Amino acid sequence: MSDVVKQQIKDLLKKHNAVLLAHNYMRDEVQEIADITGDSLALSIEASKTDADVIVFCGVHFMAESAAILSPNKKVLLPRLDAGCPMADMVTAGELELLKSKHPGVPVVTYVNSSAEVKAHSDICCTSANALKVVRSLPENELIFVPDRNLGRWVAKFVPEKKFIFWEGFCPTHERMTVAAVQQKKAEHPDALFICHPESALEVSALADHVCSTSGMYDYCRTSPAEKFIIGTEAGILYKLRQENPDKEFILASPALFCPNMKLTSLEDVFASLQTLTPVISVPEETRLKAKGALDRMLAIPRD
Ligand code: 13P
Ligand code: SF4
Repeated sequence: MSDVVKQQIKDLLKKHNAVLLAHNYMRDEVQEIADITGDSLALSIEASKTDADVIVFCGVHFMAESAAILSPNKKVLLPRLDAGCPMADMVTAGELELLKSKHPGVPVVTYVNSSAEVKAHSDICCTSANALKVVRSLPENELIFVPDRNLGRWVAKFVPEKKFIFWEGFCPTHERMTVAAVQQKKAEHPDALFICHPESALEVSALADHVCSTSGMYDYCRTSPAEKFIIGTEAGILYKLRQENPDKEFILASPALFCPNMKLTSLEDVFASLQTLTPVISVPEETRLKAKGALDRMLAIPRD
């Protein structure tokens, strides 16, 4: 049955000159049929340069919004309109403006896990893959970092010369990974390296051998001589890690590493979305242009 749906999706993608982008946390079967899988940074870059007419974004709302901001002439589809991000919902543009008014002239660095409105009120965006580079690119020695308190505090450790004003937002999925759970896995697998995402609580990332974005984890595990890894991020990442490294072992750091929003999109949802070319994600032009400025400033920073 699912093979039939997969073929129907492929046919519709071709018919509509559409590209299917999927985040590294998506269900295995959705990652399997995607044209491109990646982290938030890779998917934003892809969305900004694709020549497809339609982008089917299998991820959460803020990701499809970023694609719509960067590619206004393309139809951006989010198969599940209810796939949101609780962290992105933890700050509004009004709340950010209030904070800015208390710190006039201080630049705002906004994690892409945020609404288009919040991006529009920011100076520059960042992802987990480039947050440190973005912060280092600022000439100012003080900055506002929204909304992820964990990513912000992790970055701040590397730039002690800069003063951070944090927003107390967080990813509920990563914060459910406790120190006790990680220590238990480390005790069970003393020969494994522990790798985690910077959205994790600081006490957890302090236990890690390496902290990086989801795509950073693929690079690290592929090139590391180690054979066993405890993985501290959303469970969806295991699909490609295991596919790319059949001789290595991957252990999820905690059974709580499951983002319900990232798991909403099914093959049937993708098929229905391509059949109806809905739901379309769009951003009002004034907001889009301002938010694009913040994303473009991020994208202008050279990658390694
Ligand atoms: P990255 O893919 O950029 O590492 O982001 C993780 C995440 O939580 C996306 O929602
Ligand atoms: Fe948001 Fe966390 Fe889910 Fe990513 S994993 S979409 S940050 S709740």
